[in-house]
Amino acid sequence: MLYDEVSRAAAFVADLVSCRPEVAVILGSGLGAVADRFENPETLSYACIPGFPESTVEGHAGQFVFGTLGGKPVAAMQGRFHFYEGHGMERLAFPVYVLGALGVKTLVVTNACGGINPSFAPGDLMLISDHLNFSGNNPLIGRNDDRLGPRFPDMTEVYDGSLRDMAKTVAHRLGIPLKEGVYAFYTGPSFETAAEIRAFHILGADAVGMSTVPEAIVARYLGMKVLGISCITNMATGLAKTQHSHAEVLDIANRSSQFFRALLEGIIPEIP
Ligand code: HPA
Repeated sequence: MLYDEVSRAAAFVADLVSCRPEVAVILGSGLGAVADRFENPETLSYACIPGFPESTVEGHAGQFVFGTLGGKPVAAMQGRFHFYEGHGMERLAFPVYVLGALGVKTLVVTNACGGINPSFAPGDLMLISDHLNFSGNNPLIGRNDDRLGPRFPDMTEVYDGSLRDMAKTVAHRLGIPLKEGVYAFYTGPSFETAAEIRAFHILGADAVGMSTVPEAIVARYLGMKVLGISCITNMATGLAKTQHSHAEVLDIANRSSQFFRALLEGIIPEIP
């Protein structure tokens, strides 16, 4: 049963790691360096944790980094699991369940994504105000375990309003421009067609990517607060002048990662 698997994995991690994280941050493609500045770092590979799926994507290290940032105990995920890798929705969000069992109260989700809003440009950072789940799937499908969360969790404000306000204040203080918009989740692994991007735009999407939404849904289900920040690595299909590649995504994400790191270093200590 999921509950027992989560308890077993959390006990395994708690045995090996002294940090008791209050905040966790999932670092998207090319953004792993954000964890480099943790104090007292302890790393733990996903591969040795019972119940964890296998990570297969280039640009994702596949490990936890635990430590402190501005005195706050924090866990970073260098790499995540994606639906397009063939993991079931529930399984790809397994780390979020484990982080919840370890005591994490706030989850910061990050990703590399394509810009749909024409005022965006590659390299921009975008605060996620809300999401559109275009996958036709949901990580909570299946029998519900009330010990984890409610059958029908509310999604009125997935991305916490006061955390977003705080993030904007921090970005302003640091002089880091921060856009804001709706993130659309598309399963991948193929990039979207131009017609799909036109449709997503009409439906209210500002950006599109292949992650984040399953983890945010599970985090809300578990009662965590969620903050989401995207790195626009390219303009989406039809808006871009060139064809997409994962190499381009990693290159732009790597180049933006110093701003991302500065922003997260400012934000994480301010999380209540
Ligand atoms: N589409 C979907 N996912 C992405 C993109 C994109 O254009 N860029 C980076 N991740």
